[in-house]
Amino acid sequence: MSSKPKVLVTREVFDDILEYLSQSFEVTSNQSDVPMDSETFAQKLSDKEGAIITLSDRIDAALLTRCPNLKVVCNIAVGYNNIDLEACTRARVMVTNTPGVLDDTTADFTWALILATARRLTEAEAYLRAGLWDGWKLKQFLGLDVHHATLGIFGLGRIGQAVAKRAVGFEMKVLYHDVRQPPPEIEQICHAHFVSKEELLSQADIVTLHVPYSPATHHLISKKELQQMKPTAILINASRGGVVEDAALIEALHTKTIAGAGLDVFENEPKFNPKFLDLKNVVLAPHIASSSRATRYKMARLAAENLMAALTRGNPPNWLNPF
Ligand code: GLV
Repeated sequence: MSSKPKVLVTREVFDDILEYLSQSFEVTSNQSDVPMDSETFAQKLSDKEGAIITLSDRIDAALLTRCPNLKVVCNIAVGYNNIDLEACTRARVMVTNTPGVLDDTTADFTWALILATARRLTEAEAYLRAGLWDGWKLKQFLGLDVHHATLGIFGLGRIGQAVAKRAVGFEMKVLYHDVRQPPPEIEQICHAHFVSKEELLSQADIVTLHVPYSPATHHLISKKELQQMKPTAILINASRGGVVEDAALIEALHTKTIAGAGLDVFENEPKFNPKFLDLKNVVLAPHIASSSRATRYKMARLAAENLMAALTRGNPPNWLNPF
């Protein structure tokens, strides 16, 4: 019988990561990648010392009472709103995430959404694919110029900064709002100016969200905020579902309160509001902002290294709740 600690990997990961873990642990994996329902997840986790999980796996107090051996959960994500951190701390369960390795890739994808939304790329492609293109027209798919526009960033953390740095080439004015104002040198590197929430909403041509999801950021963008935006402006969300009130956004896109939106995340994903599908002025993506081959590998590898460090030394590098 194996004396190695038992660990669970809830979703498919790269094969060599399982090999790395198998050297030290008895690994239960899920390479078929079928998401587990909460009862199956609880049963599989009940005798484990550690787990590598993803943002669709919820860790809460009720689950923790069923997992007496659990010492660490390692999220393959930088956001960790799927985990009740306080409950984990009470249960002396270490929690880790994957900061740093996905900033540039997420910023790149934010720009893909900005450009696709401003220039109506998916709408134009759908028109072409439907065989509707009958020739060049002066006023066909008129979009919003990104160059020299005003970019408004909510949240000038690592990802927000990477988004701001990419605006230099477009010679944009960059505004930001954050609950914590970063040091002046960050503002200088990013060429970003701090403004109030109201100023950002009313002045930006492109509003992009890079805040973590928490009770404080729940519905940060709702009906009132959408009404404060310019009717020509676009909203980009590659942060978390719930930061935007989707029903209010659907209404604003429908009534042209704003010109468009580019979304990688949704409330209740993957069961997002189907009314988005009826709108032409929205670019939709299935939560893939960090999904380059290199970055998803780094995220999985970092989660595995956190698990290894937690169970061998009790001190993982990306420990969110040190006790
Ligand atoms: C992805 O959404 C992440 O938080 O890393």
